[in-house]
Order: sequence, then structure tokens, then C-alpha cells
Amino acid sequence: MKIAVSGKGGVGKTLVAGVLADFFVKKGFKVLAIDADPSPNLALTLGISLDEASKIVPVSENAQLLESKTRTGFAGVYRLSFSVDDIVEKFAVRSPYGVKLLVMGTVRSAGGGCTCPANAVIRALLQHLFVELDEVVIMDMEAGVEHMGRGTAGHVDIMLIVADPSLKSMDTAKKIYGLAAEAGIKKAFIIGNKIRNASESKLIQRFAADNKIPILDLVPHDEQILKADMQGETPLKYAQDSVGITNIQKIGEELLNIKDVKS
Ligand SMILES: Nc1ncnc2c1ncn2[C@@H]1O[C@H](COP(=O)(O)OP(=O)(O)O)[C@@H](O)[C@H]1O
Ligand SMILES: [Mg+2]
Repeated sequence: MKIAVSGKGGVGKTLVAGVLADFFVKKGFKVLAIDADPSPNLALTLGISLDEASKIVPVSENAQLLESKTRTGFAGVYRLSFSVDDIVEKFAVRSPYGVKLLVMGTVRSAGGGCTCPANAVIRALLQHLFVELDEVVIMDMEAGVEHMGRGTAGHVDIMLIVADPSLKSMDTAKKIYGLAAEAGIKKAFIIGNKIRNASESKLIQRFAADNKIPILDLVPHDEQILKADMQGETPLKYAQDSVGITNIQKIGEELLNIKDVKS
């Protein structure tokens, strides 16, 4: 199963991606989490220490790796055909709960004819991870799927679009839903997050209905999750039995039940 988690900044993408990755590991799946946010922080949610997280070099900034993959010996000329299957083995870090994490760094749109080494490697790598790798893959990303390329985006089984009850985040959700459909992603859903009361859940439900976007579930606002943040702790440990976390785990169960998606 290949899942992409998207939405406006601050809505809870990293929380959802991290809790789901952990959930699937506990269900016995092999799970690779990809942090494709330009300011990556999925590591902390997965329980990797600040110290260890600060040492991770994102793929897009790993000059040595990019060089070794794309070098031809001629200045300005890059090799565009290379293998990437060793990258996970060499560069993924393992969370204390058993999730493998690969930090991509800034993933720019592959359009505009840019053939710079970082784009070439990342595109090939995403293609490999989403198309060939036989594991649960969960990608925490900033916004759309433009940088993936059609071939890869078409292999995303589920796009989860996280939105909180604000017009801006819902407007972003609508744009992402359109992009996901264009890219050929089969299933896209909204997850409403940080819901404080009935009128907030109604707001999201009305928005989704008006725009014909299916809602997968609504996650309540949860003080325990914020407290975990303030303690510098992963909510997987600090808030593990809280309403917010258990709700996202329930979403994990729902994803397993969604028809014709197999791990
Ligand atoms: N359901 C929730 N209840 C309370 N706080 C939440 C909830 N979901 C996310 N948060 C908090 O909101 C902030 C942003 O979440 P994060 O997952 O980093 O968002 P994103 O990755 O979309 O930028 C974090 O401080 C996180 O702890
Ligand atoms: Mg994030």
C-alpha cells in the first residue's frame, strides 16, 4: 500500500503520517516513511531523538550521493539512468519502533526541463519506492504531487489530504484533490483534524460535500498531542492512548479495509 499525506502547513500531516507508519509496523508490515517536506520533522514524530535527527542528511542535499549516481566525467552532463535500490539500505534511519525513514529534503517540481542531479535522483528514487518496493510506503509531503511525475503518482494508492477547520486549509485541500485526480491517483480523501466542536466538524463536512470530496474521518483537537510537542516527546509515547492518536490508528484500520488496496 502506497500512501501520500498532503495538506497545508500546520494542519497535522506529519502527525498523521507518523502515527500511521507506526500503526502499520505494529500490524506487522514493513514500512518505509518518506519525509518530503522542505523542512523535515517526521523523525521526531517517529521517536528518533533530536540529536540523531539533526545528523540526517536529506537525499536532495547529499552531494556525494548525487555525484556518484549522475557523474559522467563531463562538466554539466549528467547520467540519467542509474540504480537507486541501494539508497534505502544506505541512507534510511530506523525509528525505535521499527519504521524506516528516508528524508528527501526539498523536492522541486520536475517540470520546467530541469535535469539537475537532485531532481533526477529523487524522481528515480520515488519511482523505485512507489512502483517497485513491496512495502507500505507513507510519504509526508508539502503540497501537490507535481514533482512525482505521472508514472509514479499513478502508483499512489491513497492520497490523504489533511485539513483543519480553516478556510485556507480547506481551499488548499480542494486544490490538492484536483491535482491528485489529474495525476491519476485512485483514491483521495480528506482527514479533518484538530476538530474542537460540532460546528467545526459541520464546517468541514459541508465543505467536503460542496466540493464532492470524500471524508475518511475527523480527528479531534487533542491537548495531549500538543503537550507531547512541548516536552519534545513523540506523541507515540507521550500521548499514545489519547483521543487524537487512537483516532488516527482507527484511520489505519479503515485504510486496511478499503477495498482493492493490498499491502
Ligand atoms: N489533533 C491534534 N490536536 C492537537 N494538536 C495537533 C493535532 N494534530 C496536530 N497537532 C499539532 O499541530 C502542529 C502541527 O502539526 P504537524 O503534524 O507538524 O503539521 P504539518 O506536518 O501539516 O505541518 C503540531 O504542534 C502538532 O502537535
Ligand atoms: Mg510536517
